[in-house]
Amino acid sequence: METLTWQRMKLFPDTAEITAVANNEVLTIAGCDLAVLAERYGTPLYLYDRATLDAAVSTYRDALSEFYPGSSGLTYAGKAFNCTALAQWADRSGLCIDFTGVGELRIADSAGMSRNRIVVHGVNKSPADLAAAIVQAGVLVVDNLLELERLIGLRCQLSSFPDLWLRYRPGLAVNTHAHTQTGQDESKFGMGRDEILRAVRLCRQNSLPLKGLHFHQGSHFRDPGPLRYALDKVLDLMLAVQAEPDWVVCPGGGWGVAYHEDDLPQPDREEYVRTIAGSLIAGCRQRRLVLPHLQLEPGRSLVARAGVALYRAGTVKQSADRRWVLLDGGLADNPRPALYGARYSALPVRNPRRSATGAYWLAGPYCESGDVLIGDLPLPEVEPGDLIAIPASGAYQLSMSSNYNGACRPAVLWLEDGEPRLIQAREMPEDLVRRDRRLWPIKTSEERRTANGRSRA
Ligand code: LLP
Repeated sequence: METLTWQRMKLFPDTAEITAVANNEVLTIAGCDLAVLAERYGTPLYLYDRATLDAAVSTYRDALSEFYPGSSGLTYAGKAFNCTALAQWADRSGLCIDFTGVGELRIADSAGMSRNRIVVHGVNKSPADLAAAIVQAGVLVVDNLLELERLIGLRCQLSSFPDLWLRYRPGLAVNTHAHTQTGQDESKFGMGRDEILRAVRLCRQNSLPLKGLHFHQGSHFRDPGPLRYALDKVLDLMLAVQAEPDWVVCPGGGWGVAYHEDDLPQPDREEYVRTIAGSLIAGCRQRRLVLPHLQLEPGRSLVARAGVALYRAGTVKQSADRRWVLLDGGLADNPRPALYGARYSALPVRNPRRSATGAYWLAGPYCESGDVLIGDLPLPEVEPGDLIAIPASGAYQLSMSSNYNGACRPAVLWLEDGEPRLIQAREMPEDLVRRDRRLWPIKTSEERRTANGRSRA
């Protein structure tokens, strides 16, 4: 069973280790004992390992410089998870960040990001989103013709304007869950070929700074094949419109990660970059085009494996054929199993190398039968009070979290060289009523007493 533990360790951050403490062993990340962190900061708790984040960036950068002779860059798709500290990290690492609308853009402000690092996306940008993007962004990705017409209306009011990229819908999605496919013809995202041609004309007629084409065929895939098709279409478009030599091609993000030991080995980021670079190089040569600037836009494959979710088991119980471990978090901080049937894995923090004694169903405390984080997972004996660590928890968990059943969003720690730093405080019940407004003044204690008396009578 030890092999199962080591398999699962590959899903955890690079710095994860099993370390002897007194007579036991314990799971550590970046030299931090997870049991100590849970004691100090409470659970559920999310952890981000800086070393794993840095390594992911380096892998992409190295692959780009090895396989793509043109200029290139990386944008972090902040929807995977963003907060002030993470945006600061991305900024300091030389990444651009993609923000969806005015709400996310508030983080860019809070992190003190400069304009040239800010990319704005959105399929139905509100007037407030557009206004914020024009003021803050270096790049605005235009989703549709109506949005472009609105931008033309705003153009005359402003001297500086973000570069515009047009979002193309290539008519082919990647192989992934239907809810995260975006490249197909019937998708709500982007523009078809004829719309792109019209958008290019409109930009030129109105002297808008059109600088590139963008597409994103879906999220969490491991077969890069469909990217070749889309890149060919993009290069055809660039030829058709006689794109200027300084145009950018951004094939979005979407490269997958392993969530469960059955998903191993990890999807290879080099293979992904090599496929894109190879298609662009061959396609440009064929069409006698200058190599465009290549901008990748990964989210999950930068942050998922750097993140770990830490929960405490409250109740262990048995129902027909199922041994349940009820944790103190679930659907509210990680809706992915419920939304996409995502299959996760886990290790106990205390003595993680013990042999599995049976299959467990790990569920949360919420009033939904779908609040199951992991079904049918072999684990050693779990007792109430034990800590359970779920790897690959860094993407699309907290960013899609909710307050269902009054859940307070977990605290988030940044782990670096044995030092935990709080980067997001735990939400408190007080926060849950902060936006509420009373309809009537609160009852006086006298009125409450009278009401109590009346209901008892
Ligand atoms: N670029 C664009 C325009 C996107 O819409 C996305 C993700 C990305 C880049 C980054 O994709 P990534 O590398 O993270 O796969 N909630 C779903 C994923 C939704 C992805 C939305 N767009 C999930 O939990 O699987």
